[in-house]
Amino acid sequence: MWRDLAPVGRSATSGGYFRQPWASAETELRSWFAEECAARGFTVETDGIGNQVAWWSPESASGPGVLTGSHLDSVLDGGAYDGPLGVASALAAIDVLRDRGFAPDRPVGIGVFVEEEGSRFGRACLGSRLVTGATTWAEARELRDRDGVFLGDAVADAGLDPSAGLLSLERVGTFVELHVEQGRDLVDRDLAVGLASEIWPHGRWRFDFAGQANHAGTTRMEDRHDPMLTYAMTALAASKQARLAGQRATFGRISVEPNGTNAVPSLVTAWLDARASSDDALASLVGEIGRQAGDRAGRDGTALTVTAESVSGSVAFDPELAARLALLGDWPIIPTQAGHDAGILSDAGIPTAMVFVRNPTGISHSPDEHADTADCLAGVEALADVLAELAGP
Ligand code: GLV
Ligand code: MN
Ligand code: MN
Ligand code: MN
Repeated sequence: MWRDLAPVGRSATSGGYFRQPWASAETELRSWFAEECAARGFTVETDGIGNQVAWWSPESASGPGVLTGSHLDSVLDGGAYDGPLGVASALAAIDVLRDRGFAPDRPVGIGVFVEEEGSRFGRACLGSRLVTGATTWAEARELRDRDGVFLGDAVADAGLDPSAGLLSLERVGTFVELHVEQGRDLVDRDLAVGLASEIWPHGRWRFDFAGQANHAGTTRMEDRHDPMLTYAMTALAASKQARLAGQRATFGRISVEPNGTNAVPSLVTAWLDARASSDDALASLVGEIGRQAGDRAGRDGTALTVTAESVSGSVAFDPELAARLALLGDWPIIPTQAGHDAGILSDAGIPTAMVFVRNPTGISHSPDEHADTADCLAGVEALADVLAELAGP
């Protein structure tokens, strides 16, 4: 099944993936998932925005279910594993349980959430946020992508009908998301599999630096109000501040107006992704970056506006659940700085755990993201053990 998935949305030049939500690759992936489920005799329910769920619910099963799964969308030029590994492993883990002759006491579901990365509309975990009510449809449908397309229109253009409603999590007693590790903790420990303890608080802030467009040749250097300089100094300050504080700050997206070589720009918009080990540390990191950017804007004669686009507080996964599952494989329980749908479901009060699979370089959100086949198979066995523990007698 991995072979069928591999070419979808793959760039011939970089080898990375462009699987943006409500665009053709993602629509193809939704069909792929429905076919994989149908081949196993499961009926897929697709909600009004494209979230999907399928339940394995033989006669032996009743009561609240165990949901596993992840997402199929990617960042721009992303890796093969972030998201799809959790969905493919969920299908494979159920195959393993059936091969073992396991009869679940509780239904086991596979879920796929849309726009996890926020790569098109800027809001991470949008599908799971809508399903849990953390974000409202009225707010989401007004979001625009880089081409100005409203989210509501993108969903309709993908052949979906938001008025059909959203997935219900009523049947979900527990959620477990398997994910490729996006750091080097497991490599350092020489282990193939681990569990998550917490997700660092993180968020996205839009910095608009407004200046004065002017001629690149005739404008004296001392007469300029150049927002590119304010932005450049802000990016350096953010990196220095994060390093000093042991936190993370990244400007990975920028737009420049009018974007001409021979003109001082009029406007630079840059998006800060910041992450820290506590909510207070995150607030102080972003506050300090904003303060330094404001000081610099004052000196450059530019104007700064900072807008918080999405902020996720710290997530502590159910510690008793993690401790219970860790006994199955003597797995370490480690923190992560990456956001996940699992964090959103945990915030909604669903006991939630995550299984991480070793990534030999730690590289992620890049075409170079990797996991060895043997580790992926170890992840499937681990997930099968976890599902058997949670859905078993
Ligand atoms: C999503 O993967 C994120 O943490 O940015
Ligand atoms: Mn990701
Ligand atoms: Mn992911
Ligand atoms: Mn993520």
